[in-house]
Amino acid sequence: MLWCGTPRLLPLYIWVFSHWNIGKRIRSRAIPYLFSIMDLTVNIGHLKLKNPVMTASGTFGYGEEYSEFVDLNRLGAVVVKGISLEPREGNPPPRICETPCGMLNTIGLQNVGLKRFLKEKLPYLRRFDTPVIVNILGNTVREYVRLSEALDNAGVDGIELNVSCPNVKKAGMIFGTDKKTLAMLVSKVRQSVKRAVLITKLSPSVSSIQEFSKIAEDSGSDAVSLINTISGMAIDIETGKPKLSNITGGLSGPAIKPIAVRMVWETYNAVKIPIIGMGGIMSAEDAIEFMLAGATAVAVGTANFANPEATVAIISGIEEYLGKKGMRGVKEIIGGLNNAQSYNNLNN
Ligand SMILES: Cc1cc2nc3c(=O)[nH]c(=O)nc-3n(C[C@H](O)[C@H](O)[C@H](O)COP(=O)(O)O)c2cc1C
Repeated sequence: MLWCGTPRLLPLYIWVFSHWNIGKRIRSRAIPYLFSIMDLTVNIGHLKLKNPVMTASGTFGYGEEYSEFVDLNRLGAVVVKGISLEPREGNPPPRICETPCGMLNTIGLQNVGLKRFLKEKLPYLRRFDTPVIVNILGNTVREYVRLSEALDNAGVDGIELNVSCPNVKKAGMIFGTDKKTLAMLVSKVRQSVKRAVLITKLSPSVSSIQEFSKIAEDSGSDAVSLINTISGMAIDIETGKPKLSNITGGLSGPAIKPIAVRMVWETYNAVKIPIIGMGGIMSAEDAIEFMLAGATAVAVGTANFANPEATVAIISGIEEYLGKKGMRGVKEIIGGLNNAQSYNNLNN
């Protein structure tokens, strides 16, 4: 596609080119934007994404549910709902409730199970030129290994280990909050994953995200993703009852964004592997903030419920930002906070 800027900016381009002598700086900003030579690609391990925007597990179904609103080809990657070996019914309703600047959920990892996913869901996703990353959860290390092996053999592009769900009693969480168990889990799964990129989704409920991200890296993860939801609860003061069947649930949305940005930045200073940042990303500005903190890619979650087209709006917004800043590629943003001096020089 030759033309990528918004039509709104057309008069600006005409003005810039009719005043050709206006100076090098303006031209260098306008040309990449006008001719779509901006590079939005990022790498997560050996996986090259066409842009840094992916979906957050559990908020985009298995992709097909959103295909009426979003051309899945436009996404950096589709991350699907967490899959377990056997189907899960999840928790009884009520399973979600709105909270100030966010929502609580206690879905309880309802999913179709591995067999149906491979038979019914994966073939649909394979029609698109977009990597498929499968979020998985198990009750034991063996279950994680069996899931990873099967998905790797089926040719998925990435496997995201959910070791951080606060909504289920046995699965996940213990792996994400115990250092030895996390190290053992990631290294065992690593041995069984030959082709797919291995991502560990870290729990925010740890004393040091740096320590846990380092463990994930040292045990063989190609990338880490963070953050999962943070445990919370809400009470209906008329009935005196909890608003969720499970009493507690996972808090997501803008309410958790500052915590997530802080954790991404701390992780960026602890590991060398790429970080997929998430938690309250509603706009391109939010996504850019995560990338400045050190995220190589971002995942959009709760925003999909408010605006099913949020992901594509965020991709366009990032592109506009790069054009405005005179940047040629999205990689120039990553970790910009630690490099504020050169970032500022670039943009003055
Ligand atoms: C309804 C719902 C279901 C979720 N299901 C999963 C899941 O299956 N696996 C997982 O790792 N994270 C799951 N998450 C967590 C999200 O992927 C994401 O980490 C979190 O919501 C923070 O991002 P957000 O604030 O943009 O939603 C779920 C979140 C929500 C709101």
